[in-house]
Amino acid sequence: MALLEIEGLTRTFGGLRAVGDLSFNVGEQEVLGLIGPNGAGKTTVFNLITGYVQPSAGRIRLDGKSVVGLRPHAVARRGIARTFQIVKPFPGLTVKENVTLAAFLRHPARRDAEAFALDVLGRLGLGSRAGDLASQLTLLDQKRLELAKALATGPRLLLLDEPMGGLNPSEVDVASGMVEEIRRGGVTVILVEHVMKAIMRISDRVVVVNQGEKIAEGPPAQVVREPAVLAAYFGKRSA
Ligand SMILES: Nc1ncnc2c1ncn2[C@@H]1O[C@H](COP(=O)(O)OP(=O)(O)O)[C@@H](O)[C@H]1O
Ligand SMILES: [Mg+2]
Repeated sequence: MALLEIEGLTRTFGGLRAVGDLSFNVGEQEVLGLIGPNGAGKTTVFNLITGYVQPSAGRIRLDGKSVVGLRPHAVARRGIARTFQIVKPFPGLTVKENVTLAAFLRHPARRDAEAFALDVLGRLGLGSRAGDLASQLTLLDQKRLELAKALATGPRLLLLDEPMGGLNPSEVDVASGMVEEIRRGGVTVILVEHVMKAIMRISDRVVVVNQGEKIAEGPPAQVVREPAVLAAYFGKRSA
């Protein structure tokens, strides 16, 4: 059975169909790239999966069990974590305090939460910044912190919303390595990303959405050559 099953997922905002009849699965420990032009509905898919937005129709199952209707906190408890397109740590808290807050989800005792937070920070190469204020971090380290906060909730499925945005090419390589490391640690990943180099390197499979609907699915190298995908990105006529 797939870890995540999405079937006929639809969400309208007034007259706008942000996500329309979308279906795809994600296997255990797979990295699925979710790509598409701006406004295609990618972030809305993440909002639907994580309970920030409710579907107009469709099913979302983790391990065969529906997560539709659960509040974001309950979805996190079921094992789904996300990062946000715009990073938003608590700037007045230290790096360690930011991650400890997330770790409380599965470690109610403060000492345990702090220990787990430090462990996650170490794995992401942020151990030496634990005592710094989140606002003092470089952009790459802010992205690390965003990943650390998500991992500190102990997820099985991690949803990454444009984690490479604003990074230079060598930083993109570092961030790609982090995502690969997270997967090696046993976490399944859905990666929304415009940096195609990262999508091509990290994804096992790619789903392409346009105007809320799936227009292609397959191995990354194959999908980016499909006429419907080129048309969605570059406005070329599809064959
Ligand atoms: N809460 C909302 N209310 C109204 N419209 C929304 C809301 N969230 C997203 N949308 C609209 O849904 C469409 C898809 O947005 P989004 O999921 O953010 O796309 P992407 O992440 O692929 O750029 C856009 O037209 C956007 O304006
Ligand atoms: Mg988005």
